Amino acid sequence: MKVTRATFNDVMVPNYNPAKMVPVKGEGSRVWDQDGTEYVDFAGGIAVNCLGHCHPAMVNALTEQGNKLWHLSNVFTNEPAMRLAKKLTDATFAERVYFANSGAEANEAALKLARRWALDNHGAGKDQIVAFAKGFHGRTFFTVTVGGQPAYSEGFGPKPGGIEHVEYNDLAALEAQMSDKTCAVMMEPLQGEGGVISPDLEFVKGVRALCDKYNALLIFDEVQTGFGRTGSLYAYQQLGVTPDILASAKSLGGGFPIGAMLTTAAIAEHLKPGTHGSTYGGNPLACAVAEAVFDVVNTDEVLAGVKAREELFKTKLAEINERYGIFKDIRGKGLLIGAELSDKYEGKARDFLNAGADEGVMVLVAGPSVIRFTPSLIIPEADVLEGLARFEKAIAKLVG
Ligand SMILES: Cc1ncc(COP(=O)(O)O)c(C=O)c1O
Repeated sequence: MKVTRATFNDVMVPNYNPAKMVPVKGEGSRVWDQDGTEYVDFAGGIAVNCLGHCHPAMVNALTEQGNKLWHLSNVFTNEPAMRLAKKLTDATFAERVYFANSGAEANEAALKLARRWALDNHGAGKDQIVAFAKGFHGRTFFTVTVGGQPAYSEGFGPKPGGIEHVEYNDLAALEAQMSDKTCAVMMEPLQGEGGVISPDLEFVKGVRALCDKYNALLIFDEVQTGFGRTGSLYAYQQLGVTPDILASAKSLGGGFPIGAMLTTAAIAEHLKPGTHGSTYGGNPLACAVAEAVFDVVNTDEVLAGVKAREELFKTKLAEINERYGIFKDIRGKGLLIGAELSDKYEGKARDFLNAGADEGVMVLVAGPSVIRFTPSLIIPEADVLEGLARFEKAIAKLVG
């Protein structure tokens, strides 16, 4: 059956508006569409394809597990899930893992756990969740309401309650909002979708201190920052601040859907049998692939390589900026990089994305005025240079 981009409009719910071309094949950091046109991939499936497309370690893990056992449900446990959980707990502050299928589900579990922990330990009334403007935590109704972009949560009827927002990096505002009624603070340790915004170190330390003061749990949403993206397995490991609960997804599966919520044994106790669950959570195929991703990503070679690639990206983007003066800021950490357009091009990030695609390079946006780059963590230097050369061509065409 022949399908084209036009088919999408005939058969899909119109909540997405995908690009004109339809990709059919990927290898490393290159992608090909139905017409055979080749693209350099700086989007990485929105910070997911951390080892690029079709990495042999992932293909092997999927094939091997695919010939053994696909699915059991949580009525039974399985070896890949336990092995992956062991590796995650050995490598982080966490002692317990809950597996889900996406970032939103990992965050949903984190929020429900925090509420249950507070209820069990402190009784009803300690149910306030504080989160940050421009934060993004997923699209379930709870997570999207905790997210800091009201446009995403409005228009669906009554929202889950007990949720407050303050500005990111504003410790005084957070302090003014918190009290003994606060059950948890949820934050990204570097805001991705909101515009690639880093927290001040003092701010993150202050958030931790306020959580300790008011006996509230600190939840780090590392769905985008996690699994090597910022140059350490998780971003918290470079901040000197340890959360109580951490959500991971995206790069965790390198392209296979999986999410995980990590926490301590004492907090995990509060999700007793029957309190929460998912048919597919901890699926053997997903966990086998994630284990293979972990084994490659959690190495000095790959993590140090992320920092080297960050420098290359930032240097080259700065050079482009010297020639065209289109960015007012180039920022981010590791391979989660944002280039904010100067005032003249405010609101035009999508035009640059489209122009890039026309020249054979896939980039992302983060809000209306920031171009975002989240390539494979092992993207070859030659692909970085080629992709940025194509992007510069797109810029030249667009701004003259
Ligand atoms: C920080 C963060 N949290 C949660 C999510 C939601 O993840 P998913 O789309 O897998 O539900 C995203 C997705 O962009 C994200 O960037």
